[in-house]
Amino acid sequence: MSGQTMRAVVLAMALCGAAGAHLRADDVADPRGERTGGATTVFANGRNAFSFPFANLSDAERTRFAIGNSFFRRNWVEAPSSTQARDGLGPLFIARSCGGCHDQDGRGAPPAGSDARTEPAVALLLRLSVPGAGPHGGPRPDPVYGDQIANAAVQGVMPEARIVIEHVAMPGRFADGTRYLLQQPHYRLEDLAYGPVAPSLLMSPRIAPQLAGIGLLAAIADAEIERNAREQAAAGGPVRGMVNRVWDAPSASMRIGRFGWKANVASLAHQTAAAFHGDMGITSTLFPDESCTVAQAACAAAPRGGPGGKGPEIDDATLAQVVFYQATLAPAARRKPNAAQVVHGQRLFAQAQCAACHRPSYVTGPVTGADGGSSAAAGQRIWPYTDLLVHDMGDALADGRPDFAASGAQWRTPPLWGVGLIRDVNGHQRLMHDGRADGTLQAILWHGGEAAASRDHVLRMSRVEREALIAFVDSL
Ligand code: HEC
Ligand code: HEC
Repeated sequence: MSGQTMRAVVLAMALCGAAGAHLRADDVADPRGERTGGATTVFANGRNAFSFPFANLSDAERTRFAIGNSFFRRNWVEAPSSTQARDGLGPLFIARSCGGCHDQDGRGAPPAGSDARTEPAVALLLRLSVPGAGPHGGPRPDPVYGDQIANAAVQGVMPEARIVIEHVAMPGRFADGTRYLLQQPHYRLEDLAYGPVAPSLLMSPRIAPQLAGIGLLAAIADAEIERNAREQAAAGGPVRGMVNRVWDAPSASMRIGRFGWKANVASLAHQTAAAFHGDMGITSTLFPDESCTVAQAACAAAPRGGPGGKGPEIDDATLAQVVFYQATLAPAARRKPNAAQVVHGQRLFAQAQCAACHRPSYVTGPVTGADGGSSAAAGQRIWPYTDLLVHDMGDALADGRPDFAASGAQWRTPPLWGVGLIRDVNGHQRLMHDGRADGTLQAILWHGGEAAASRDHVLRMSRVEREALIAFVDSL
Protein backbone atom coordinates (compact mmCIF):
# COMPACT_ATOMS: atom_id res chain seq x y z
CA MET A 1 0.00 0.00 0.00
CA SER A 2 1.49 3.35 -1.02
CA GLY A 3 1.75 6.19 1.46
CA GLN A 4 -0.95 8.07 -0.32
CA THR A 5 -3.41 5.18 -0.31
CA MET A 6 -2.63 4.55 3.33
CA ARG A 7 -3.44 8.15 4.19
CA ALA A 8 -6.62 7.91 2.17
CA VAL A 9 -7.77 4.84 4.06
CA VAL A 10 -6.97 6.35 7.44
CA LEU A 11 -8.74 9.56 6.50
CA ALA A 12 -11.73 7.63 5.17
CA MET A 13 -12.02 5.78 8.45
CA ALA A 14 -11.85 9.05 10.32
CA LEU A 15 -14.56 10.52 8.11
CA CYS A 16 -16.88 7.57 8.52
CA GLY A 17 -16.52 7.77 12.25
CA ALA A 18 -16.80 11.48 12.75
CA ALA A 19 -17.33 14.05 10.08
CA GLY A 20 -20.98 14.33 9.09
CA ALA A 21 -23.09 11.98 7.04
CA HIS A 22 -22.55 13.82 3.77
CA LEU A 23 -18.87 12.99 3.51
CA ARG A 24 -18.25 9.45 2.43
CA ALA A 25 -15.27 7.20 1.97
CA ASP A 26 -15.56 7.63 -1.81
CA ASP A 27 -14.61 11.30 -1.51
CA VAL A 28 -11.21 10.31 -0.34
CA ALA A 29 -10.84 7.33 -2.63
CA ASP A 30 -11.58 9.62 -5.60
CA PRO A 31 -9.96 12.94 -4.73
CA ARG A 32 -9.78 14.10 -8.35
CA GLY A 33 -13.43 13.41 -9.06
CA GLU A 34 -12.65 10.86 -11.74
CA ARG A 35 -16.08 9.31 -11.26
CA THR A 36 -17.93 12.49 -12.22
CA GLY A 37 -21.34 11.07 -11.32
CA GLY A 38 -20.43 8.79 -8.41
CA ALA A 39 -21.98 5.34 -8.86
CA THR A 40 -23.89 6.50 -11.94
CA THR A 41 -20.65 7.15 -13.87
CA VAL A 42 -19.88 5.31 -17.09
CA PHE A 43 -16.39 4.91 -18.54
CA ALA A 44 -17.00 5.99 -22.10
CA ASN A 45 -15.59 8.05 -24.92
CA GLY A 46 -16.19 8.32 -28.66
CA ARG A 47 -19.38 9.11 -30.51
CA ASN A 48 -21.72 7.48 -27.94
CA ALA A 49 -20.10 8.94 -24.84
CA PHE A 50 -23.20 10.93 -23.80
CA SER A 51 -25.76 8.22 -24.55
CA PHE A 52 -25.30 5.57 -21.84
CA PRO A 53 -27.70 5.00 -18.93
CA PHE A 54 -26.53 5.38 -15.31
CA ALA A 55 -24.20 2.50 -14.44
CA ASN A 56 -26.32 1.73 -11.35
CA LEU A 57 -29.76 1.48 -13.01
CA SER A 58 -31.88 -1.62 -12.41
CA ASP A 59 -32.93 -3.80 -15.35
CA ALA A 60 -36.50 -2.48 -15.20
CA GLU A 61 -35.18 1.07 -15.31
CA ARG A 62 -32.98 0.21 -18.31
CA THR A 63 -36.11 -0.81 -20.17
CA ARG A 64 -37.77 2.53 -19.43
CA PHE A 65 -34.56 4.26 -20.53
CA ALA A 66 -34.68 2.42 -23.87
CA ILE A 67 -38.32 3.34 -24.49
CA GLY A 68 -37.68 6.99 -23.63
CA ASN A 69 -34.63 6.95 -25.88
CA SER A 70 -36.69 5.84 -28.89
CA PHE A 71 -39.14 8.74 -28.43
CA PHE A 72 -36.22 11.15 -28.00
CA ARG A 73 -34.59 10.07 -31.24
CA ARG A 74 -37.39 9.22 -33.62
CA ASN A 75 -38.83 11.78 -35.99
CA TRP A 76 -42.38 12.94 -35.40
CA VAL A 77 -44.59 13.19 -38.46
CA GLU A 78 -47.31 15.51 -39.70
CA ALA A 79 -50.92 14.78 -38.81
CA PRO A 80 -53.02 13.09 -39.97
CA SER A 81 -50.95 9.93 -40.17
CA SER A 82 -51.35 6.22 -39.49
CA THR A 83 -48.74 6.40 -36.73
CA GLN A 84 -50.87 8.20 -34.17
CA ALA A 85 -48.30 7.57 -31.46
CA ARG A 86 -45.91 9.95 -33.22
CA ASP A 87 -47.98 12.36 -35.26
CA GLY A 88 -48.78 16.02 -34.74
CA LEU A 89 -45.49 17.61 -35.77
CA GLY A 90 -45.92 21.38 -36.06
CA PRO A 91 -47.82 23.22 -37.55
CA LEU A 92 -44.81 25.43 -36.74
CA PHE A 93 -41.64 23.72 -35.59
CA ILE A 94 -37.85 23.82 -35.67
CA ALA A 95 -36.85 20.15 -35.64
CA ARG A 96 -38.62 16.78 -36.00
CA SER A 97 -37.05 15.13 -32.96
CA CYS A 98 -35.24 16.01 -29.76
CA GLY A 99 -32.18 14.34 -31.25
CA GLY A 100 -32.43 16.68 -34.26
CA CYS A 101 -30.89 19.38 -32.05
CA HIS A 102 -29.33 17.30 -29.26
CA ASP A 103 -27.46 15.11 -31.74
CA GLN A 104 -26.31 11.97 -29.89
CA ASP A 105 -27.61 13.62 -26.67
CA GLY A 106 -24.86 16.12 -27.32
CA ARG A 107 -24.24 19.73 -28.24
CA GLY A 108 -25.57 21.55 -31.27
CA ALA A 109 -23.48 23.86 -33.42
CA PRO A 110 -24.44 27.21 -34.92
CA PRO A 111 -24.64 27.25 -38.73
CA ALA A 112 -21.17 26.87 -40.24
CA GLY A 113 -21.43 29.64 -42.83
CA SER A 114 -21.14 33.36 -42.15
CA ASP A 115 -24.94 33.48 -42.12
CA ALA A 116 -27.76 31.00 -42.15
CA ARG A 117 -28.49 31.38 -45.84
CA THR A 118 -26.99 28.09 -46.85
CA GLU A 119 -27.79 26.05 -43.77
CA PRO A 120 -30.83 26.57 -41.54
CA ALA A 121 -29.99 27.32 -37.90
CA VAL A 122 -31.48 24.18 -36.44
CA ALA A 123 -29.72 23.57 -33.13
CA LEU A 124 -29.69 27.33 -32.52
CA LEU A 125 -32.89 28.49 -30.93
CA LEU A 126 -33.90 32.15 -31.06
CA ARG A 127 -36.05 33.03 -28.05
CA LEU A 128 -38.22 36.14 -28.48
CA SER A 129 -39.98 38.54 -26.20
CA VAL A 130 -41.05 42.14 -25.80
CA PRO A 131 -40.28 44.24 -22.71
CA GLY A 132 -42.38 43.65 -19.61
CA ALA A 133 -43.36 40.53 -17.72
CA GLY A 134 -45.67 37.84 -19.08
CA PRO A 135 -47.61 35.17 -17.19
CA HIS A 136 -45.95 34.21 -13.84
CA GLY A 137 -43.28 36.89 -14.32
CA GLY A 138 -41.70 35.17 -17.31
CA PRO A 139 -40.87 36.74 -20.69
CA ARG A 140 -43.72 38.38 -22.61
CA PRO A 141 -44.03 36.84 -26.10
CA ASP A 142 -44.00 38.84 -29.33
CA PRO A 143 -47.69 39.26 -30.28
CA VAL A 144 -47.13 37.91 -33.82
CA TYR A 145 -44.20 35.48 -33.57
CA GLY A 146 -44.66 34.18 -30.04
CA ASP A 147 -41.72 33.22 -27.82
CA GLN A 148 -39.35 31.62 -30.31
CA ILE A 149 -38.74 31.60 -34.06
CA ALA A 150 -39.97 28.51 -35.90
CA ASN A 151 -37.97 28.20 -39.09
CA ALA A 152 -39.95 25.21 -40.36
CA ALA A 153 -43.64 24.40 -40.82
CA VAL A 154 -45.98 21.70 -42.15
CA GLN A 155 -47.41 21.88 -45.67
CA GLY A 156 -49.66 24.88 -46.21
CA VAL A 157 -48.20 26.87 -43.32
CA MET A 158 -45.43 29.45 -43.78
CA PRO A 159 -42.29 29.10 -41.65
CA GLU A 160 -41.92 32.26 -39.57
CA ALA A 161 -38.55 33.60 -40.64
CA ARG A 162 -34.92 32.91 -41.41
CA ILE A 163 -32.19 33.65 -38.88
CA VAL A 164 -29.23 35.51 -40.35
CA ILE A 165 -25.97 35.67 -38.41
CA GLU A 166 -23.18 38.11 -39.13
CA HIS A 167 -19.86 38.17 -37.33
CA VAL A 168 -17.63 41.03 -36.25
CA ALA A 169 -14.00 40.13 -35.56
CA MET A 170 -12.76 40.90 -32.03
CA PRO A 171 -8.97 40.56 -31.99
CA GLY A 172 -6.98 40.50 -28.75
CA ARG A 173 -3.61 39.59 -27.26
CA PHE A 174 -2.29 37.59 -24.34
CA ALA A 175 0.26 39.26 -22.06
CA ASP A 176 3.00 37.21 -23.79
CA GLY A 177 2.09 38.86 -27.11
CA THR A 178 0.25 35.89 -28.65
CA ARG A 179 -2.72 37.07 -30.68
CA TYR A 180 -6.21 35.61 -30.63
CA LEU A 181 -9.37 36.28 -32.62
CA LEU A 182 -12.95 36.01 -31.39
CA GLN A 183 -16.02 36.36 -33.60
CA GLN A 184 -18.93 38.33 -32.15
CA PRO A 185 -22.20 37.12 -33.70
CA HIS A 186 -25.07 39.52 -34.54
CA TYR A 187 -28.52 38.14 -35.22
CA ARG A 188 -31.15 39.35 -37.65
CA LEU A 189 -34.46 37.97 -38.93
CA GLU A 190 -35.23 37.88 -42.63
CA ASP A 191 -38.20 36.72 -44.72
CA LEU A 192 -40.66 37.47 -41.93
CA ALA A 193 -43.79 35.64 -43.10
CA TYR A 194 -46.36 37.27 -40.82
CA GLY A 195 -45.46 40.95 -41.00
CA PRO A 196 -43.12 42.99 -38.86
CA VAL A 197 -41.88 41.99 -35.43
CA ALA A 198 -42.54 44.30 -32.48
CA PRO A 199 -40.17 47.31 -32.73
CA SER A 200 -38.95 46.58 -29.20
CA LEU A 201 -38.30 42.88 -29.95
CA LEU A 202 -35.72 41.17 -27.70
CA MET A 203 -33.89 38.10 -29.01
CA SER A 204 -31.90 35.46 -27.15
CA PRO A 205 -29.91 32.98 -29.25
CA ARG A 206 -29.23 29.63 -27.54
CA ILE A 207 -27.49 26.47 -28.64
CA ALA A 208 -28.65 22.98 -27.65
CA PRO A 209 -26.46 21.75 -24.76
CA GLN A 210 -25.31 18.18 -24.11
CA LEU A 211 -27.61 16.35 -21.71
CA ALA A 212 -25.51 13.70 -19.93
CA GLY A 213 -25.76 14.15 -16.16
CA ILE A 214 -28.79 16.46 -16.04
CA GLY A 215 -30.68 14.03 -13.79
CA LEU A 216 -27.93 14.54 -11.22
CA LEU A 217 -28.19 18.33 -11.52
CA ALA A 218 -31.92 17.89 -10.88
CA ALA A 219 -31.03 15.98 -7.68
CA ILE A 220 -28.95 18.80 -6.15
CA ALA A 221 -30.89 20.17 -3.17
CA ASP A 222 -32.31 23.70 -3.47
CA ALA A 223 -30.48 24.55 -0.23
CA GLU A 224 -27.12 23.90 -1.91
CA ILE A 225 -27.88 26.36 -4.71
CA GLU A 226 -29.06 28.97 -2.22
CA ARG A 227 -25.92 28.38 -0.20
CA ASN A 228 -23.78 29.08 -3.28
CA ALA A 229 -25.43 32.50 -3.61
CA ARG A 230 -25.05 33.26 0.10
CA GLU A 231 -21.38 32.30 0.14
CA GLN A 232 -20.56 34.36 -2.94
CA ALA A 233 -22.33 37.41 -1.46
CA ALA A 234 -20.50 36.94 1.85
CA ALA A 235 -17.12 36.73 0.07
CA GLY A 236 -17.67 40.34 -1.02
CA GLY A 237 -15.79 39.97 -4.31
CA PRO A 238 -16.94 40.53 -7.88
CA VAL A 239 -18.55 37.08 -8.10
CA ARG A 240 -22.18 37.45 -7.01
CA GLY A 241 -24.37 34.78 -8.48
CA MET A 242 -28.12 34.93 -8.18
CA VAL A 243 -30.77 32.25 -7.93
CA ASN A 244 -33.29 32.42 -10.78
CA ARG A 245 -36.87 31.60 -9.77
CA VAL A 246 -39.15 30.45 -12.54
CA TRP A 247 -42.62 29.09 -13.20
CA ASP A 248 -42.74 25.31 -13.23
CA ALA A 249 -45.84 24.09 -15.06
CA PRO A 250 -45.85 20.46 -13.81
CA SER A 251 -45.90 21.50 -10.14
CA ALA A 252 -47.79 24.76 -10.88
CA SER A 253 -45.40 26.70 -8.64
CA MET A 254 -42.41 29.04 -8.68
CA ARG A 255 -39.21 27.03 -8.22
CA ILE A 256 -35.46 27.52 -8.43
CA GLY A 257 -34.42 27.47 -12.09
CA ARG A 258 -31.53 25.17 -12.97
CA PHE A 259 -31.86 24.23 -16.67
CA GLY A 260 -31.43 26.34 -19.77
CA TRP A 261 -28.74 28.95 -20.37
CA LYS A 262 -30.39 31.39 -17.96
CA ALA A 263 -31.56 28.80 -15.43
CA ASN A 264 -34.96 29.54 -16.93
CA VAL A 265 -36.47 26.10 -16.27
CA ALA A 266 -36.84 24.30 -12.93
CA SER A 267 -37.59 20.68 -13.81
CA LEU A 268 -36.85 18.14 -16.53
CA ALA A 269 -40.57 17.48 -16.81
CA HIS A 270 -41.20 21.14 -17.66
CA GLN A 271 -38.20 21.33 -20.01
CA THR A 272 -39.32 18.21 -21.88
CA ALA A 273 -42.96 19.19 -22.30
CA ALA A 274 -41.94 22.73 -23.28
CA ALA A 275 -39.42 21.42 -25.84
CA PHE A 276 -42.00 19.09 -27.40
CA HIS A 277 -44.37 22.04 -27.59
CA GLY A 278 -42.10 24.89 -28.60
CA ASP A 279 -39.46 23.16 -30.71
CA MET A 280 -41.54 20.44 -32.37
CA GLY A 281 -45.16 21.58 -32.09
CA ILE A 282 -46.19 18.53 -30.06
CA THR A 283 -48.98 19.27 -27.57
CA SER A 284 -49.35 17.58 -24.18
CA THR A 285 -51.68 17.88 -21.20
CA LEU A 286 -49.25 20.51 -19.82
CA PHE A 287 -49.21 22.54 -23.05
CA PRO A 288 -52.48 21.58 -24.79
CA ASP A 289 -52.70 24.39 -27.39
CA GLU A 290 -50.61 24.70 -30.54
CA SER A 291 -48.38 27.77 -30.41
CA CYS A 292 -50.11 29.67 -33.21
CA THR A 293 -50.62 33.38 -32.57
CA VAL A 294 -53.74 35.26 -33.71
CA ALA A 295 -51.81 36.43 -36.78
CA GLN A 296 -51.24 32.81 -37.87
CA ALA A 297 -54.58 31.57 -39.22
CA ALA A 298 -53.23 28.69 -41.36
CA CYS A 299 -51.33 27.43 -38.31
CA ALA A 300 -54.51 27.52 -36.22
CA ALA A 301 -56.46 25.67 -38.95
CA ALA A 302 -53.91 22.91 -39.60
CA PRO A 303 -54.87 19.33 -38.60
CA ARG A 304 -54.02 18.13 -35.06
CA GLY A 305 -52.40 14.83 -34.19
CA GLY A 306 -52.96 12.41 -31.33
CA PRO A 307 -56.04 10.22 -30.68
CA GLY A 308 -58.83 11.12 -33.13
CA GLY A 309 -56.86 14.14 -34.33
CA LYS A 310 -57.74 15.92 -31.08
CA GLY A 311 -54.49 15.79 -29.14
CA PRO A 312 -52.71 15.72 -26.84
CA GLU A 313 -50.11 14.67 -29.37
CA ILE A 314 -47.91 13.08 -26.73
CA ASP A 315 -49.61 11.29 -23.83
CA ASP A 316 -48.48 11.61 -20.22
CA ALA A 317 -47.00 8.12 -20.03
CA THR A 318 -44.79 8.63 -23.09
CA LEU A 319 -43.73 12.07 -21.89
CA ALA A 320 -42.71 10.50 -18.58
CA GLN A 321 -40.55 7.92 -20.43
CA VAL A 322 -38.71 10.72 -22.25
CA VAL A 323 -38.17 12.57 -18.96
CA PHE A 324 -36.87 9.38 -17.33
CA TYR A 325 -34.53 8.79 -20.27
CA GLN A 326 -32.82 12.16 -19.93
CA ALA A 327 -32.82 11.99 -16.15
CA THR A 328 -30.77 8.80 -16.30
CA LEU A 329 -28.21 9.74 -18.98
CA ALA A 330 -24.86 9.09 -17.30
CA PRO A 331 -21.96 11.51 -17.11
CA ALA A 332 -18.74 9.96 -18.39
CA ALA A 333 -15.72 9.47 -16.16
CA ARG A 334 -12.84 11.93 -16.50
CA ARG A 335 -10.10 11.05 -18.94
CA LYS A 336 -6.50 11.00 -17.65
CA PRO A 337 -7.20 12.90 -14.40
CA ASN A 338 -3.73 12.06 -13.07
CA ALA A 339 -1.68 13.17 -16.10
CA ALA A 340 0.89 15.76 -14.99
CA GLN A 341 -0.39 18.46 -17.37
CA VAL A 342 -3.98 17.93 -16.22
CA VAL A 343 -3.02 18.12 -12.54
CA HIS A 344 -1.11 21.33 -13.28
CA GLY A 345 -4.23 22.69 -15.01
CA GLN A 346 -6.37 21.80 -12.00
CA ARG A 347 -4.16 24.02 -9.81
CA LEU A 348 -4.40 26.86 -12.33
CA PHE A 349 -8.21 26.47 -12.44
CA ALA A 350 -8.26 27.08 -8.68
CA GLN A 351 -5.77 29.98 -8.87
CA ALA A 352 -7.81 31.75 -11.56
CA GLN A 353 -10.91 31.51 -9.31
CA CYS A 354 -12.80 29.54 -11.91
CA ALA A 355 -14.21 27.39 -9.12
CA ALA A 356 -15.94 30.41 -7.57
CA CYS A 357 -18.69 29.84 -10.13
CA HIS A 358 -17.80 26.43 -11.54
CA ARG A 359 -18.22 24.76 -8.11
CA PRO A 360 -16.59 21.37 -8.46
CA SER A 361 -18.61 19.03 -6.31
CA TYR A 362 -21.85 18.17 -4.50
CA VAL A 363 -23.53 15.27 -2.82
CA THR A 364 -26.97 14.88 -4.40
CA GLY A 365 -30.08 14.88 -2.21
CA PRO A 366 -32.91 12.38 -2.19
CA VAL A 367 -34.88 11.78 -5.41
CA THR A 368 -38.60 11.51 -4.76
CA GLY A 369 -39.79 10.47 -8.18
CA ALA A 370 -42.03 13.55 -8.41
CA ASP A 371 -39.61 14.95 -10.98
CA GLY A 372 -39.62 11.74 -12.97
CA GLY A 373 -36.05 10.63 -12.34
CA SER A 374 -34.48 7.61 -10.66
CA SER A 375 -33.42 7.08 -7.05
CA ALA A 376 -30.12 5.89 -8.55
CA ALA A 377 -29.26 9.63 -8.72
CA ALA A 378 -29.66 10.12 -4.97
CA GLY A 379 -26.83 10.48 -2.47
CA GLN A 380 -24.06 10.54 -5.08
CA ARG A 381 -20.83 12.54 -4.85
CA ILE A 382 -20.89 14.32 -8.22
CA TRP A 383 -18.45 16.70 -9.99
CA PRO A 384 -20.44 18.96 -12.34
CA TYR A 385 -18.43 22.22 -11.91
CA THR A 386 -21.38 24.60 -11.66
CA ASP A 387 -23.13 26.69 -8.98
CA LEU A 388 -26.40 26.69 -11.00
CA LEU A 389 -26.58 30.46 -10.40
CA VAL A 390 -26.86 33.23 -12.97
CA HIS A 391 -24.03 35.77 -13.26
CA ASP A 392 -23.56 39.08 -15.03
CA MET A 393 -21.04 38.08 -17.69
CA GLY A 394 -20.52 41.49 -19.24
CA ASP A 395 -21.74 43.41 -22.30
CA ALA A 396 -20.15 41.28 -25.00
CA LEU A 397 -22.18 38.21 -23.93
CA ALA A 398 -25.37 40.05 -22.95
CA ASP A 399 -28.52 39.42 -25.00
CA GLY A 400 -30.51 42.20 -23.34
CA ARG A 401 -33.46 39.84 -22.85
CA PRO A 402 -34.56 39.16 -19.25
CA ASP A 403 -35.79 35.65 -18.43
CA PHE A 404 -37.73 35.56 -15.15
CA ALA A 405 -35.32 37.05 -12.55
CA ALA A 406 -32.26 36.73 -14.83
CA SER A 407 -31.32 40.02 -16.48
CA GLY A 408 -30.22 40.52 -20.07
CA ALA A 409 -26.59 40.24 -18.95
CA GLN A 410 -26.89 37.18 -16.69
CA TRP A 411 -26.20 33.61 -17.71
CA ARG A 412 -26.20 30.37 -15.75
CA THR A 413 -22.81 28.84 -15.01
CA PRO A 414 -22.93 25.76 -17.24
CA PRO A 415 -21.66 22.45 -15.89
CA LEU A 416 -18.21 21.67 -17.28
CA TRP A 417 -18.46 17.88 -17.11
CA GLY A 418 -18.44 16.44 -20.61
CA VAL A 419 -17.12 19.64 -22.22
CA GLY A 420 -14.03 17.79 -23.44
CA LEU A 421 -16.12 14.99 -24.95
CA ILE A 422 -18.26 17.24 -27.17
CA ARG A 423 -15.63 16.97 -29.89
CA ASP A 424 -15.77 13.15 -29.78
CA VAL A 425 -19.55 13.07 -29.85
CA ASN A 426 -20.43 16.00 -32.11
CA GLY A 427 -17.28 16.64 -34.13
CA HIS A 428 -16.98 20.24 -32.86
CA GLN A 429 -16.57 22.04 -29.55
CA ARG A 430 -18.81 25.08 -29.86
CA LEU A 431 -19.22 26.59 -26.41
CA MET A 432 -21.13 29.39 -24.59
CA HIS A 433 -24.86 30.05 -24.88
CA ASP A 434 -24.93 30.50 -28.66
CA GLY A 435 -21.92 28.41 -29.60
CA ARG A 436 -19.83 31.49 -30.45
CA ALA A 437 -16.70 30.09 -28.82
CA ASP A 438 -14.70 27.56 -30.81
CA GLY A 439 -13.13 25.51 -28.02
CA THR A 440 -12.32 25.96 -24.35
CA LEU A 441 -9.77 28.76 -24.63
CA GLN A 442 -12.13 30.96 -26.64
CA ALA A 443 -14.89 30.24 -24.12
CA ILE A 444 -12.66 31.57 -21.34
CA LEU A 445 -11.73 34.65 -23.40
CA TRP A 446 -15.43 35.51 -23.75
CA HIS A 447 -15.83 35.68 -19.95
CA GLY A 448 -16.43 39.24 -18.72
CA GLY A 449 -18.44 41.00 -16.01
CA GLU A 450 -18.21 39.03 -12.76
CA ALA A 451 -15.67 36.72 -14.41
CA ALA A 452 -13.43 39.47 -15.83
CA ALA A 453 -10.74 38.93 -13.19
CA SER A 454 -10.62 35.20 -13.97
CA ARG A 455 -10.26 35.93 -17.68
CA ASP A 456 -7.52 38.48 -17.01
CA HIS A 457 -5.69 35.90 -14.93
CA VAL A 458 -5.70 33.61 -17.98
CA LEU A 459 -4.54 36.45 -20.25
CA ARG A 460 -1.40 36.67 -18.08
CA MET A 461 -0.66 32.92 -18.29
CA SER A 462 2.17 31.48 -20.35
CA ARG A 463 1.41 29.17 -23.25
CA VAL A 464 2.32 26.14 -21.12
CA GLU A 465 -0.11 27.26 -18.43
CA ARG A 466 -2.92 27.96 -20.92
CA GLU A 467 -2.48 24.53 -22.41
CA ALA A 468 -2.54 22.92 -18.97
CA LEU A 469 -5.73 24.77 -18.02
CA ILE A 470 -7.42 23.63 -21.23
CA ALA A 471 -6.21 20.07 -20.70
CA PHE A 472 -7.81 20.10 -17.26
CA VAL A 473 -11.17 21.53 -18.43
CA ASP A 474 -11.24 19.09 -21.33
CA SER A 475 -10.57 16.18 -18.96
CA LEU A 476 -13.80 16.86 -17.02
C1 HEC B 1 -34.65 23.29 -31.92
C2 HEC B 1 -33.62 22.59 -31.26
C3 HEC B 1 -34.04 21.79 -30.04
C4 HEC B 1 -34.90 20.74 -29.99
C5 HEC B 1 -35.73 20.14 -31.10
C6 HEC B 1 -34.90 20.29 -28.61
N1 HEC B 1 -34.04 21.04 -27.87
FE1 HEC B 1 -33.61 20.78 -25.92
N2 HEC B 1 -32.57 22.48 -25.91
C7 HEC B 1 -32.34 23.29 -27.01
C8 HEC B 1 -31.79 24.54 -26.58
C9 HEC B 1 -31.40 25.70 -27.48
C10 HEC B 1 -31.69 24.48 -25.18
C11 HEC B 1 -31.28 25.61 -24.23
C12 HEC B 1 -32.60 26.34 -23.95
C13 HEC B 1 -32.53 27.59 -23.13
O1 HEC B 1 -31.47 27.98 -22.71
O2 HEC B 1 -33.58 28.17 -22.89
C14 HEC B 1 -32.18 23.16 -24.79
C15 HEC B 1 -32.19 22.70 -23.49
C16 HEC B 1 -32.62 21.45 -23.12
C17 HEC B 1 -32.50 20.89 -21.80
C18 HEC B 1 -31.83 21.55 -20.60
C19 HEC B 1 -30.36 21.19 -20.58
C20 HEC B 1 -29.55 21.96 -19.58
O3 HEC B 1 -28.47 21.51 -19.23
O4 HEC B 1 -29.96 23.04 -19.16
C21 HEC B 1 -33.10 19.68 -21.83
C22 HEC B 1 -33.23 18.70 -20.69
C23 HEC B 1 -33.61 19.48 -23.17
N3 HEC B 1 -33.29 20.57 -23.93
C24 HEC B 1 -34.34 18.39 -23.59
C25 HEC B 1 -34.98 18.31 -24.82
C26 HEC B 1 -35.97 17.32 -25.17
C27 HEC B 1 -36.49 16.22 -24.28
C28 HEC B 1 -36.36 17.58 -26.45
C29 HEC B 1 -37.42 16.88 -27.27
C30 HEC B 1 -38.74 16.93 -26.71
C31 HEC B 1 -35.59 18.72 -26.89
N4 HEC B 1 -34.78 19.14 -25.88
C32 HEC B 1 -35.70 19.26 -28.15
C33 HEC B 1 -32.62 22.96 -28.32
C34 HEC B 1 -33.50 21.98 -28.70
C1 HEC C 1 -18.49 34.70 -12.52
C2 HEC C 1 -18.69 33.28 -12.74
C3 HEC C 1 -17.70 32.55 -13.61
C4 HEC C 1 -16.33 32.44 -13.46
C5 HEC C 1 -15.46 33.07 -12.40
C6 HEC C 1 -15.90 31.58 -14.53
N1 HEC C 1 -16.95 31.18 -15.29
FE1 HEC C 1 -16.90 29.96 -16.88
N2 HEC C 1 -18.83 30.37 -17.30
C7 HEC C 1 -19.65 31.14 -16.52
C8 HEC C 1 -20.90 31.37 -17.22
C9 HEC C 1 -22.09 32.13 -16.69
C10 HEC C 1 -20.76 30.75 -18.46
C11 HEC C 1 -21.80 30.72 -19.60
C12 HEC C 1 -21.76 32.05 -20.35
C13 HEC C 1 -22.52 32.02 -21.67
O1 HEC C 1 -23.06 31.00 -22.03
O2 HEC C 1 -22.57 33.04 -22.36
C14 HEC C 1 -19.46 30.09 -18.46
C15 HEC C 1 -18.99 29.27 -19.50
C16 HEC C 1 -17.80 28.57 -19.44
C17 HEC C 1 -17.38 27.61 -20.41
C18 HEC C 1 -18.20 27.12 -21.60
C19 HEC C 1 -19.10 25.99 -21.16
C20 HEC C 1 -20.12 25.55 -22.17
O3 HEC C 1 -20.79 24.57 -21.87
O4 HEC C 1 -20.28 26.16 -23.23
C21 HEC C 1 -16.13 27.17 -20.03
C22 HEC C 1 -15.28 26.14 -20.73
C23 HEC C 1 -15.78 27.89 -18.84
N3 HEC C 1 -16.83 28.72 -18.50
C24 HEC C 1 -14.59 27.76 -18.16
C25 HEC C 1 -14.17 28.66 -17.17
C26 HEC C 1 -12.81 28.76 -16.68
C27 HEC C 1 -11.67 27.89 -17.12
C28 HEC C 1 -12.80 29.77 -15.76
C29 HEC C 1 -11.61 30.34 -15.03
C30 HEC C 1 -10.58 30.89 -15.88
C31 HEC C 1 -14.17 30.27 -15.66
N4 HEC C 1 -14.95 29.58 -16.54
C32 HEC C 1 -14.58 31.25 -14.77
C33 HEC C 1 -19.37 31.63 -15.26
C34 HEC C 1 -18.07 31.76 -14.76
